[in-house]
Order: sequence, then C-alpha cells, then structure tokens
Amino acid sequence: MKKVLVLYYSQSGQLKKMVNSVTAPLLKSDDVSVDYHKIQPVTKYPYPWPFYPFFDAFPEAIYMNGCPVEEIEGLHEQYDLIILGYTIWFLSPSIPVTGFLQSDQAKKIFKNTPVVTLIACRDMWVMAQEKMKKLLKDLDATLIDNVVLTDQGGSLYAFLTTPRWLLTGKKDPVFGLPAAGVSTKDMKASVRFGERLLDGLQKDEEKLKQPMLKSMGAVSVNGKLVATEKIATRSFMIWGKLIQKAGAPGSFARKIVITIYTVFLVTLVLTIVPLNILVKNIIYPFRKKQIEESVKYYEKPSGR
Ligand SMILES: Cc1cc2nc3c(=O)[nH]c(=O)nc-3n(C[C@H](O)[C@H](O)[C@H](O)COP(=O)(O)O)c2cc1C
Repeated sequence: MKKVLVLYYSQSGQLKKMVNSVTAPLLKSDDVSVDYHKIQPVTKYPYPWPFYPFFDAFPEAIYMNGCPVEEIEGLHEQYDLIILGYTIWFLSPSIPVTGFLQSDQAKKIFKNTPVVTLIACRDMWVMAQEKMKKLLKDLDATLIDNVVLTDQGGSLYAFLTTPRWLLTGKKDPVFGLPAAGVSTKDMKASVRFGERLLDGLQKDEEKLKQPMLKSMGAVSVNGKLVATEKIATRSFMIWGKLIQKAGAPGSFARKIVITIYTVFLVTLVLTIVPLNILVKNIIYPFRKKQIEESVKYYEKPSGR
C-alpha cells in the first residue's frame, strides 16, 4: 500500500477545500493510506486580519523567517509522496509553512521524497513558488508537480475583493464585483488531479520522480504579471528591511513605518501598477518570445 502525507496550512478554509478536493480520490482508495495534517503555528495568526497585524507579517514573510510550529505526531519515517498545500503571503510561502519546512521534522520526512505542491491564492504565486523550490531543494525533496488555483474575476477585481475578504472575512459579491476567492467550479474541478495522482501511484509512477499532472491545466502563468512580481519583490525587500529595523513585530515604531509603507503601497497600486500594465501591453509584442520562454519555465514542472 502506498503511503501519502498531506500537509497544509489554511486560515479561512479555502486552501483546505482545494486540498480536500484533490485528495478525495486518494482517501477513497484501498491502495493508498493517507496521513492528513494541518501545520499549526505555536502562536496563531488572526483571521480575519486586523490592519496592523496583516502588514506586520510582511517583513517576516518576505525574508522567509518562518515561525515556530507544533511538531506533528504519529508520522511515518518515509512516504511515497507528500502533498503540500500552501498559500502565498506577500509573494512568499505563508510563514507557518516556511516555519514547518525549516523544522527538524521536515528535514527527516521530506528527504528523498517526491512532492506535489497545491496553491490557492489571489493570483501572484510565481516568486513564492521559486522560494518553495529552494526550500524543497534544501530538504533534498523533489518537486514533481504544482497545481495552482487563483481567485475568480482576474487581477484587477482581486486587488479589491481579496483584501476586503482577508481584513473583514466577507467574501460576498459587492458593487458589481465578483465574490472573493477561488470559484466553486475551479475548486470542484481540481478533483481531476487527485484521480490522476491515484492512477500514477497505482502504476508506481511516483518512483520516476517526474511530473504526473502534465497537460491537465495544473497552472497558467500570466507573463505580464511576472514582471510586476519581480518589481514588487525588490520593493518588498527594501521596505521589509526598513520595517524590521524599526522594531520588533507589534511594536509602536514598527506601526509608524507600516503606516508610511501602506500609504506608499496604495499610491503605487493606484499609479505605478496601472502604468506598468499599460507599458507591459505596449512592449509585449517586442518581448513576446522572451516572455513566453519565461512563462514556460515558471509553469514547470506540471505545465498547462
Ligand atoms: C498576509 C497575507 C498576504 C497575502 N499575500 C498574497 C500574495 O502576495 N499573493 C497572492 O496571490 N495572494 C496573497 N494572499 C492571499 C492568500 O494566498 C490566500 O488566497 C488567502 O489568504 C486565503 O487562504 P486561506 O486558505 O489560508 O484562507 C495573502 C494573504 C495573506 C493573509
């Protein structure tokens, strides 16, 4: 019987829904035994998020500082496959997931093991997945597949609907905007990845440490967003350092720098981001080949 470990960290339950949809075929099968665990930070993060704690998490997320996490009891020493569900916090894997992947327990269970990552996020995950690749490489694990679901309605709407959801807990449609989060249709359709993984496990395909989810629409990278993610990462690194230097998480001095930062961020979103989109659209035909190549790279290992 194949042994599969499923790990995830979800606050509102959205990512958990995706993990449940993908892993349902494995849980029903007699050929697979599934250990299913939530990663638990020692100090819980709030949800919905108050304003300051939300931005206070930003420097530690971008600098991948992680956080202490509870040890998971009753794990086997080795698994045939690990399925890791994670969300994106400030273009990085969420702090609890980073914390777990930096733990001694992760060093033991991930070693020499194929890993499938599952992401449910707004729509900016490419730089975070690059960081995830590094975390997994440091653990001697092999990333064989990546599946990503993004919030419905596209980038512009999600810029409004996702922060409203995270700061208030409200996901319903307002002012003609779509509901926040991943669509129910995409969520349900993700069961196909679990069906294929089950088929692959039954045929020992995980031993090849090659993708099993090719040509199934596992990911779709928006080439124009990649450049925005790269610029945003550079700016996040600078502001992250400034906020960390101001004081410890939760301190008054840090709140002052966070306030200045959010004014900067809102100005950026209202001015530079639309300008950047316009410029990207103008230069796209001239850089089409280069962008398409980078898209192919970021869509690996599963591809479209
Ligand atoms: C602090 C924080 C920062 C976030 N930053 C990003 C981001 O950079 N890119 C993105 O696509 N989504 C981002 N999100 C959205 C999450 O990836 C995710 O969609 C949302 O938190 C719901 O996940 P849940 O299953 O944990 O409730 C962020 C969420 C939080 C809480």
